[in-house]
Amino acid sequence: MDERVHALSTRLLHAGLGAFDDGAAPVSVPVVRTSTVRFASSAEHERLQRLRHDGENVATYGRHGTATHRALEAAIGELEGATHTLLAPSGLSAITLVFLSLLAPGDHVLIQDSVYGPVRERIEPLLARLGIEATYFAAQNGPPRDALRANTRLVYVESPSSFLYEIIDLPAFGAFAREHGLILAADNTWSAGWLHQPLAHGAHVSIQATTKYAGGHSDLMQGAVSTNDAALAQRLRDTHEALGLSVGADDAWLALRGIRTIGVRLAQHARHALAIAEYLQGERAVARVFHPALPDDPGHALWQRDFRGANGLVSFAFTPRHDAAHARAFVDALRLFSHGASWGGFESLALVAPAARLGAHSYVRTETPVVRLHAGLEDPSDLIDDLRRAFRLTSS
Ligand SMILES: Cc1ncc(COP(=O)(O)O)c(C=O)c1O
Repeated sequence: MDERVHALSTRLLHAGLGAFDDGAAPVSVPVVRTSTVRFASSAEHERLQRLRHDGENVATYGRHGTATHRALEAAIGELEGATHTLLAPSGLSAITLVFLSLLAPGDHVLIQDSVYGPVRERIEPLLARLGIEATYFAAQNGPPRDALRANTRLVYVESPSSFLYEIIDLPAFGAFAREHGLILAADNTWSAGWLHQPLAHGAHVSIQATTKYAGGHSDLMQGAVSTNDAALAQRLRDTHEALGLSVGADDAWLALRGIRTIGVRLAQHARHALAIAEYLQGERAVARVFHPALPDDPGHALWQRDFRGANGLVSFAFTPRHDAAHARAFVDALRLFSHGASWGGFESLALVAPAARLGAHSYVRTETPVVRLHAGLEDPSDLIDDLRRAFRLTSS
């Protein structure tokens, strides 16, 4: 649909329906499961193979996806403002796909220091084995000019960052990347594309763990990589094919269903998160609350400039009297917040942030234990009562 005519919420409800419009079409895109494509003739087989070879997103085999996948790609394309989207079996595999597609032995990559932990813990060792070197940079200092080398090819960012929600000036990074002929890739999982479009703010590639808000119901694993650059899309597609990345049609359908309601869900998550953040600011045991919609959050001004809302994530640091054991006891005392690592589903979750992951931040710093909350769709007063109860039970 035409973005000059229809709002994103409208386009998301209609994305991917066209392929099924044959007179009396289903409102819900069918789950097309297959490993094998049947061709009407050898000529048709060859025609489709030629189209695929020329970069068209058509399937000649089940691994390339089906009409269900095409519909999901169209919806994610709307979210990201992208002409090309590739699906991956998890958010992490989508990130790895970007590094493997866009870097070669001897290359150098600049990585924001506060990115999702497994980038540092899992992907960097893989890159090192391939002879690719990484340098981490502090997000608040703007583009890392001093760390630039002749062999730097890629800048990788995540804004807001995991756990403490550092926000970077993405347009400044985009200008830096263009000035030096670099590719700028951004993890856009926090915003899900509904709240922010990195491609419109200077990034060449945007990545999402659609496991989170796109899925929205904690019942699938999935990732997506989007771009508006046809040459980059071809490099991504070549590596995607080599790795044989494929997503089951049922999971593609679940993510598509999630995206139909992403706007209303995110607005509700954000309302609940802000209510919780404001309550936490008044708690004696809490030293600091991290959530970009709070006016005193360090990323607030950039968030207001570049984002159109917040999500359900809120973190808080305990005051210095509280140690990690206290934070664990607090999480264990919660009843409505389940103890779990993910976020983006309908439910509330709590997790003690791993100290190593917090230590990787250079912009927002805290020395005391941090708990990350995901505000689910339960009634916010019930959630606040649950938190209050856990603070009382564990107060010393
Ligand atoms: C910011 C961010 N990016 C990527 C991922 C990885 O996604 P997945 O769990 O689907 O591999 C996560 C998961 O927590 C995440 O929080």
